[in-house]
Amino acid sequence: MAPMRLGSLTLSSNLFLSPLAGYTNLPFRLTVRELGGLGLATTDLVNARSLLEKKAKALKLIETAPGDQPLAVQLFGSVPEEMRDAAQMVETLGMAAVDINMGCPVRKVCQVGGGSAMMTQLQRTARLVQGMVQAVRIPVTAKMRLGWDEANLTAPDLARALEDAGVAAVFVHGRTRAQGFGGRVNLAGIRAVVEAVRRIPVIGNGDVTTPEAARRMLEETGCAGVSIGRGAFYNPWIFQHTARYLATGEVPPEPGFEERVRVMCRHLDRMVEVFGEEQGCRMFRKIAPWYAKRFGPASEFNRRVVLLSSRLQFDEILTAYRQWRAQFLDENGELKPRFRPLPLTPSFMHEAGTVAGQALPVPKGPVERW
Ligand SMILES: Cc1cc2nc3c(=O)[nH]c(=O)nc-3n(C[C@H](O)[C@H](O)[C@H](O)COP(=O)(O)O)c2cc1C
Repeated sequence: MAPMRLGSLTLSSNLFLSPLAGYTNLPFRLTVRELGGLGLATTDLVNARSLLEKKAKALKLIETAPGDQPLAVQLFGSVPEEMRDAAQMVETLGMAAVDINMGCPVRKVCQVGGGSAMMTQLQRTARLVQGMVQAVRIPVTAKMRLGWDEANLTAPDLARALEDAGVAAVFVHGRTRAQGFGGRVNLAGIRAVVEAVRRIPVIGNGDVTTPEAARRMLEETGCAGVSIGRGAFYNPWIFQHTARYLATGEVPPEPGFEERVRVMCRHLDRMVEVFGEEQGCRMFRKIAPWYAKRFGPASEFNRRVVLLSSRLQFDEILTAYRQWRAQFLDENGELKPRFRPLPLTPSFMHEAGTVAGQALPVPKGPVERW
């Protein structure tokens, strides 16, 4: 794996987990990290003021564990003093880095000058960021989109201004705020940001669903690293596979059914540990079907898992599902060819942003459009 520097930090790889609010929590991060290949993960966005006020919800969002390192906390807010003090708090708590959300399109966040609105006020944003950089020793990074809309592609200018303000790196999702998740990621737009900065690494983001798409992002934009969100949720093995592919040119074989079940169970166990059995199981109702997307026929599993309410019940669902799934297996216990999911190979995924020939789904969450 290619190590990478982020300010004073050395990361084991140039592959990053993008925050997906509601999904990239501690259980998911631990699950992905255990599979290997990930350089740095970031928490869901956290309201700086709520963190300073030590609101239970904000503290839960930054919950971490020894195996969950290195970890960046992503802050959002628009009051310079609050952002500065929250960054100091993040540092005091022992986090590896602090990231600033400049991409969130949600009106509630933008109206108060946070999220995507930060991309429209370069000088003000640069001053706020400088205040944070000067207050901490850990790297401060920023995550942005290409701009507010097509007519205002401010990311190159903003990235340059933030470099002068002292950020250690910028993450760029290659779409505008107005675009939401529509259309394709704009690699030329990311390239313009890479060309605008002098020293700091730019990390490209958007629609990376395969190791090949990650390489294309690196090659066509010249970015120093790749950040993966939905593609990791769909396929938690993507970091391990991409790291191997970038190093050797070979994509490891897809994990089989038993390995997927093993990892899914680890994920659920951690959900129960971190959120308690009732809430953890309830949250897992919308996570388990993502694993099942690669199980082959899974209607029987999905039908029952939406009612999940205890760990024991999950084992019962799995046992019943295995029995039902047996009808699709051959004498070697493999899915008969016509029931196999389409392979995650480039021929089915030649378009970035698709998985097995279909558009990459956007997981439902507290926000609809990022
Ligand atoms: C449900 C959901 C929640 C998201 N939450 C955040 C967030 O908290 N902070 C952030 O900077 N981006 C957030 N994003 C944007 C992603 O980090 C990422 O930039 C975007 O999904 C594009 O990358 P991808 O195609 O690899 O998913 C979110 C996206 C989705 C779909």
